[in-house]
Amino acid sequence: MAHRRIGILGSGDVAKALGAGFAKYDWEVQLGTRTPENLQAWVTETEGTISVDSFSDAASFGDIVALSVLGAAVGDVLELAGPENFDGKLVLDTTNPLDFTQEGPPGLLFGGTDSLSERVQATLSGARVVKCFNTVSNAQMVDPTFEDETPPMLICGNDEDAKKETEEILVEFGWPGALDVGPIESSRFGSE
Ligand SMILES: NC(=O)c1ccc[n+]([C@@H]2O[C@H](COP(=O)([O-])OP(=O)(O)OC[C@H]3O[C@@H](n4cnc5c(N)ncnc54)[C@H](OP(=O)(O)O)[C@@H]3O)[C@@H](O)[C@H]2O)c1
Repeated sequence: MAHRRIGILGSGDVAKALGAGFAKYDWEVQLGTRTPENLQAWVTETEGTISVDSFSDAASFGDIVALSVLGAAVGDVLELAGPENFDGKLVLDTTNPLDFTQEGPPGLLFGGTDSLSERVQATLSGARVVKCFNTVSNAQMVDPTFEDETPPMLICGNDEDAKKETEEILVEFGWPGALDVGPIESSRFGSE
């Protein structure tokens, strides 16, 4: 595989799971966050070549960039990261547009006629966005262990080569492959 440097925007469970996973498979990893100091203990205890910096530095660092922040914060994070830092790159979008403002289970910030990934692709017009990892728990993202046979990972996006690169990563992570459900609009809720 040609690309071995990944920038991961995020400091939550997904960013840590992917960060540890990419590092385990010998990628150089940099996480991006507003508060790098909060991740120092995690970096110390996690094996591999991992660093932490700002959102913009992590986006610049990666040949590939993963977007793993709160759905409601995606717009702000991309502005902080600098859309130009993603130009030409595969962007793995793990986010979901969950609305946590009401009590009870989260709703969706928007529904069947729009999707967060379409907005990400529109904001990062020079990047090649692939929706990936958003349909499974962070604990299953790398080296999945399902009781039954591991299914292929659902992905979608507009760039065929970007989807092939994504599938190579998935296979490296122990997935049988990707199930490509079409262009980025396929990430809409209710899309078939
Ligand atoms: N957790 C899972 O198992 C899972 C599974 C599939 C998909 N997802 C999706 O993956 C994404 C990441 O999930 P997560 O559970 O790891 O983390 P999360 O708690 O949803 O998000 C944490 C990240 O969001 C950033 N953030 C929050 N509010 C912000 C704001 N106002 N401005 C800028 N950044 C802000 C934080 O930035 P700082 O680092 O600067 O604090 C942090 O990096 C989410 O979209 C989620 O829906 C999660």
